[in-house]
Amino acid sequence: MNIAQINGLTPDLSYTPEIADEMAPLYDKVKDVIPPVEWPVFAPLIRAINQLKVERHAIILAHNYQTPEIFHGVADVVGDSLQLAREAAKADADIIVQCGVHFMAETAKLLNPDKTVLIPDTGAGCSLAESVTPADIRDLRCQYPGVPVVTYINTSAAVKAECDICCTSSNAVKIVESLGTERVILVPDEFLARNVNAQTEVDVIAFSGRCEVHERFTVQELRDYRAGHDGLKIIAHPECPPEVLDEADFAGSTAGMIKWVQDHQPQKVMMVTECSMSDNVAVENPNVEFIRPCNLCPHMKKITLQNILEALLYNRHEVHIDPTIAAPARRAVERMIDLGR
Ligand code: 13P
Ligand code: SF4
Repeated sequence: MNIAQINGLTPDLSYTPEIADEMAPLYDKVKDVIPPVEWPVFAPLIRAINQLKVERHAIILAHNYQTPEIFHGVADVVGDSLQLAREAAKADADIIVQCGVHFMAETAKLLNPDKTVLIPDTGAGCSLAESVTPADIRDLRCQYPGVPVVTYINTSAAVKAECDICCTSSNAVKIVESLGTERVILVPDEFLARNVNAQTEVDVIAFSGRCEVHERFTVQELRDYRAGHDGLKIIAHPECPPEVLDEADFAGSTAGMIKWVQDHQPQKVMMVTECSMSDNVAVENPNVEFIRPCNLCPHMKKITLQNILEALLYNRHEVHIDPTIAAPARRAVERMIDLGR
């Protein structure tokens, strides 16, 4: 159903010549990554969302994996998980719309208990967040008495509540080392834990979670791309298998990868991560050629302009966290944020 048909309060979403003119500067910016046939649908939605944000005193936080029409069209803040958590903590708004996956919306709510936090589609999950339960953390504590537990931010609030401190892909080594112990448990991503283990003296005990997007990249695939593209630089996310990272020229969080491209301006680069990253970064780096292996995160792709507009119109879908879980989960996230100050 078209949003305009849902009720009389909804904005007119026709693509008029006036809207075409008003939105032309934005289209000029994104024209290489959004086909002309899609723009007449996107432009009125972007305009309506941006108006509603002002009326409702709302802000939109968008992860780097969001599609270009969201990333460049309606987001107030874009970034990796750490940047989004930090910005959520500072948010000056009544409503936060989280364009990302559910654990990101929960993190925003943990840091803003008195604000309305909306996620446009509650089905936007994460294979890592689903791979570990609070009972798993209790079992690990029995198996390794006294060993602190670090949780990757890609977990539910209920899991965070059982852990000592949170981390993201951009600060995992620092967080692990900050605990001052010889051993640390890092859940749930097995590959992130092994990649961190390779960069520190601390013995990092891994769990068995995997990101369904990053686990699929292989060394052979990277070698084949290198063979086909002279001078190709390969940069990878630390949720990839360790042997894939060994084959890459750089590894870092999504924000780290973006910065690497901005700083190095390689002639040709391949970002070994979710598909939308290359589109989003290409807009700001016109001199860089992006070679695009495409592994799509089906959860991130559940967020659309249409459901963002509906979230803002109808306060759909509000994130609530049980206060008994929220208090210890918030401590784990705030402890991480405090370490970065
Ligand atoms: P970043 O924190 O690097 O943005 O990673 C989040 C994520 O879900 C990667 O798959
Ligand atoms: Fe989760 Fe992987 Fe999707 Fe990131 S890319 S949200 S880790 S499933």
